[in-house]
Amino acid sequence: MRDKRIDQDTPPTRTQFQQGVKSRHDSIVLFDTAPYPTVTGPHDPETVEMLKSDYAGAGGELTAITQYIFQNNSVDDETFSNALLQIAIVEMTHLDMLGDAIHALGGSTEFSDGHRFWSAEYVDYSLPRIEMLRANIRAERGAIRAYNDHAARTSNSSVRDLLLRIASDEKLHLQFFQDQLAQELAKDKE
Ligand SMILES: [Fe+2]
Repeated sequence: MRDKRIDQDTPPTRTQFQQGVKSRHDSIVLFDTAPYPTVTGPHDPETVEMLKSDYAGAGGELTAITQYIFQNNSVDDETFSNALLQIAIVEMTHLDMLGDAIHALGGSTEFSDGHRFWSAEYVDYSLPRIEMLRANIRAERGAIRAYNDHAARTSNSSVRDLLLRIASDEKLHLQFFQDQLAQELAKDKE
């Protein structure tokens, strides 16, 4: 049975989460170390709409969390499984911060994109390792595109800073999955 415990007995703060993620996985960089900006500003329905899609839209953070936890539970390789769990935890901090931002701008944080409730059908359940990695690469690329697009479209500079900061974590996740895919494809050639 794999050991999947989070080390702390009490819920960790965001900083402790990050330190914990770092210490348990020194060889893999799963998040940037720069601080996350706090969102402030007047109520802004247009920005809330974009944030809701990043939060619980088809390609949003809730989908990323559940996809990586599904994969974490499905693979036998302990190192890879643990990396998926740690990435899911980083995605959870993104969900948390987007929720705070949505509240700050006058929105509500039920798990929907503002039009449709989140669905378990959004998760890519591919299981062969190569297909799993390709799905994750598509997901991280889509997330980076959406964050860059939404950062360019909002007039709130604190939202822009937060979205670009989150995107820098997603770039590290993309790099990790691309490296893993390259290793798998090299194995196939052996
Ligand atoms: Fe994320």
